[in-house]
Amino acid sequence: MSEIILDWNKYLDKAAEVCAEGAVLLRNEGGVLPISRNDRIAVFGRIQLNYYKSGTGSGGMVNVSKVTGVVDGLKELGAKIDDELLETYKAWVGDNPFELGEVWGGEPWSQKEMPLSDELVSAAADRSDIAVVIIGRTAGEEQDNTADEGSFLLSKGERDMLKTVRKHFAKVAVLLNVGNTIDMSFVDDFSPDAVMYIWQGGMTGGLGAAKVLLGDVSPSGRLPDTVAYSITDHPSDKFFYGKEKNCYGEDIFVGYRYFETFAKDKVRYPFGAGLSYTDFEVSAKGSADAANGTVLITAGVKNTGIAGGKNSVLVYCSAPQGSLGKPARVLCGFDKTKTLAPGESDTLKIEIPFSAFASYDDSGVSGHAYAWVLEKGCYRFYAGGDVRSAQEVFSFELDEDVVTEQLSQTLAPVESFERMVGGGDEPRFEPVPLSKNSEEEKRLSHLPKALAQTDGEIKLTDVVSGKNTLSEFISQLTDDDLCCLVRGEGMCSPKVTPGTAAAFGGVSERLSKLGVPCGCCSDGPSGMRLDCGTKAFSLPNGTLIASTFDKALVEELFALTGLEMSANKVDCLLGPGMNIHRHPLNGRNFEYFSEDPFLTGSIAAAELKGLHSAGVEGTIKHFSANNQETNRHNIDSVVSERALREIYLRGFEIAVRQGNARSIMTTYGKLNGLWTAGSYEQNTELLRDQWGFDGFVMTDWWANINRRGGDADKSDLAAMVSSQNDVYMVVADSVSNPDNLKAALADGSLTRGELQRSAENILSFLMGTHAMERIIGTGDTVKVINKPDDDTDENAGSEVFELDGKTVIDLTNVKTGRNSQYSFTLDVRKLGFHTFKLTASSKASKTAQMNVTIYSLGTPFGTFTYNGTDGEPVSFTTGNVPLFSRYSIIRLHFSLGGLDLISLEVENVQPF
Ligand code: BGC
Repeated sequence: MSEIILDWNKYLDKAAEVCAEGAVLLRNEGGVLPISRNDRIAVFGRIQLNYYKSGTGSGGMVNVSKVTGVVDGLKELGAKIDDELLETYKAWVGDNPFELGEVWGGEPWSQKEMPLSDELVSAAADRSDIAVVIIGRTAGEEQDNTADEGSFLLSKGERDMLKTVRKHFAKVAVLLNVGNTIDMSFVDDFSPDAVMYIWQGGMTGGLGAAKVLLGDVSPSGRLPDTVAYSITDHPSDKFFYGKEKNCYGEDIFVGYRYFETFAKDKVRYPFGAGLSYTDFEVSAKGSADAANGTVLITAGVKNTGIAGGKNSVLVYCSAPQGSLGKPARVLCGFDKTKTLAPGESDTLKIEIPFSAFASYDDSGVSGHAYAWVLEKGCYRFYAGGDVRSAQEVFSFELDEDVVTEQLSQTLAPVESFERMVGGGDEPRFEPVPLSKNSEEEKRLSHLPKALAQTDGEIKLTDVVSGKNTLSEFISQLTDDDLCCLVRGEGMCSPKVTPGTAAAFGGVSERLSKLGVPCGCCSDGPSGMRLDCGTKAFSLPNGTLIASTFDKALVEELFALTGLEMSANKVDCLLGPGMNIHRHPLNGRNFEYFSEDPFLTGSIAAAELKGLHSAGVEGTIKHFSANNQETNRHNIDSVVSERALREIYLRGFEIAVRQGNARSIMTTYGKLNGLWTAGSYEQNTELLRDQWGFDGFVMTDWWANINRRGGDADKSDLAAMVSSQNDVYMVVADSVSNPDNLKAALADGSLTRGELQRSAENILSFLMGTHAMERIIGTGDTVKVINKPDDDTDENAGSEVFELDGKTVIDLTNVKTGRNSQYSFTLDVRKLGFHTFKLTASSKASKTAQMNVTIYSLGTPFGTFTYNGTDGEPVSFTTGNVPLFSRYSIIRLHFSLGGLDLISLEVENVQPF
């Protein structure tokens, strides 16, 4: 056992490097960027004080000690800021506080802007050399964007700001602190000299952006999505808005696949676009090795400009149209140089397997039904930056069709709709091929053999040491044991790290006695969410990470995240999120990477590699086709098998096959009529039999399940296990959960062999975790150093109070202080809406303002301002707070000291 050090400062540096590399500069007229340190910068937009570190919901709920916004970053790097303007904003923001929204999914997409008078802006222009205008957006879980002002479009306040600033400043740079692409018609309307997407960069995002603004780093990010002139130009726009059902009529023509094939003139900025402060000359050549089924592109990159910088080279393939019809170009490889000094060169060798540019025939039209196929003809390869301008490097001919993988029909739709097809100048539509299968028949013909039950006391440690086999261990498990194993407990189970999303595995006393560890899962893609208030590292968002096109850098960052997880005893991060940016309005796009599946899969694989280096796991999610938040629990995504294989599943496949993913989360919604948590075709046939996945699968939290034709039923864990979705997330109590497992075993609709198979998936996974090492007494420890305000409190949230209708918690011993908090766990026996009545007194002055915010599971449900009370008790009561999880972590946050707490009364006012 040794001690590994995680240096927080190095972690911050690495994340800032990622943020700088993920910034995408799209316009730089007259070279207004970078900004000289001699120039004074006037920063406009309230976002200079309210930087969005991420989007909302589980993917963004990381408690941080400090967020470095753009102005903080600029100051840290010694830039000259117009402080007078900054002070004006500070005063205005003080009077117009950031609106958080009161409920989950309730935070507005944007915030009110400070109105600007001509006098104010012209005075700022007299004092300064350049204006930097920051526009911010958020969205997230249960909250899609809308195509309205203040969401996808700029608000009136933002437009007024741009207009006035443009009028008075000779140089204007716009920064977009957003989750994914937004409408960019403001470029036509206000002609800013520079425009850069800085995305949402986590706790140190502003520093990364500032490095680029000041030229310490030359921008090298590229767009992971196409920016069209209008939202309605997006091929998915005609099909996106369905509430009950969403037929993916654009089929494989998502993003640039559509625009480059059928609608080049609709593109404002193409996929892969991104400027630099320097110039690069790329000279590439290519060759094909038919015997090995690979193409090799060798790209020499020379920095011919005057600044140092990195350059990524993207390789696109144009396949013959054949009978299948193909997109004009498809990304099939990419790599990035090191930082090249002016005059310096680097050579990138990009190896591309034939499978990366094969097409899937889901109808048999090519003569190769249900196979990945390269139709005969000429394959051309283009290398460069954006998809439009990449230059042809090399081509080769195939005289015959080549089948790269023969599969069988899986996950095809069961209802007809028309899908877009290529092959001509205009898109055509044709009826989609339908499923010829029955999941139930497939399942029944592949039932695993049950292990005979034995009486034993074998410990899991005996399996790890090689004394016994895993089969021997599983044979001795009773039905009760097996049922417990497939029930994940949460949220905030006291059996694992406080404030996390789930515990699974050794959740019962007996399993624990048998040496089964409890695995701990914590959200999410942008860093650990610890609802008890413990601070963690907030990472850049998925769109930003993808924009770096830098796999090595991403891996390095996630190696540090892996160490942070180890230090906090977290085994599975609930991320990366890797659904496709099918449409710009999806609220969770910020958690995901790109409209392109190859980029998505490659970046996810890089994150996983980093996490694996620290012995922890990333849970790739949401499997699959989770492309909108509206009605996410019930929406039916109706998608052709080809679009699934080529677009929506492709990234997952890369993460499994190349990234060795061992933990997957299914979706809330339905795919082709079936909730994915019970989809045998998805969770067994495709994932395990075809892709070779050997890990475990969990549901999303409180997900619906059904069998074909049946209604949604959260208690149908039998259907879940039959499909080989191994763990239900989450139940209140694994031992006594009211589900149908026992009844299904009794009536034969679930076999013991199936339950044992899931047990094997879960236990094999757990045996490789640090949780297992802790039981055995092996494994390294991780020590975090230089973490500011290190409040890591092992006891946070560990006090548990039972709540059966009503309880009064004595708070007289709880100390309040500036920026302090107190958290505890409620063991909620009757779920429902509750009120919280806080009683406290204070001897501070009548005008003192002491704010207390009450959080449940990380979401704020009310901020109360106490003034001095002359020592008399004063009470405030929240509105109705939903307590939907048996273990609910409650946190009280105190902005200042001076309060004498008395009690907190919690009462169930409306059971669910
Ligand atoms: C989200 C998941 C998340 C889970 C646990 C769900 O609402 O969809 O992505 O990991 O909650 O917080």
